[in-house]
Amino acid sequence: SISKCRIIDLPRIADARGNLTFIEGQNHIPFDIKRVYYLYDVPGGSDRGEHAHKNLHQFMVCMSGSFDVCLDDGFESKRIQLNRSYFGIYICPMIWRYLDNFSSGAVCMVLASEPYDEADYIRDRDEYLRAVRAS
Ligand code: TYD
Repeated sequence: SISKCRIIDLPRIADARGNLTFIEGQNHIPFDIKRVYYLYDVPGGSDRGEHAHKNLHQFMVCMSGSFDVCLDDGFESKRIQLNRSYFGIYICPMIWRYLDNFSSGAVCMVLASEPYDEADYIRDRDEYLRAVRAS
């Protein structure tokens, strides 16, 4: 459920020469990282996502700019603004999500627990609601 999705603060090595943040699989996020992808050059007004994953765990970090992550579990929803690269949002399986309000130059990096698999997606909202409400 949505209560398992949470903001995770990452280590910050503050330095006058520029700050540094790092992420270690298992240590900072609750899964092994098998894939990294990123969204960039997102035109203003555009939405991404609008789907759920059956088994995939993800961790999203805003590397530059800002955007909103909207999550729901079929019962409860929340909107989280990501605007710093020293924290991110963990998203557990079976959460419906979309991203909007991208600023210009925004970059969304996603760490994922599995390689890309179209069969893991639920892209139909009604199918998603049937699945979460049946369980
Ligand atoms: P998708 O996850 O559907 O993005 P969004 O929901 O934001 O529109 O991915 C868009 C396309 O990119 C889709 O055709 C699948 C492909 N894709 C990969 O090939 N590998 C990946 O790791 C990801 C995330 C997407």
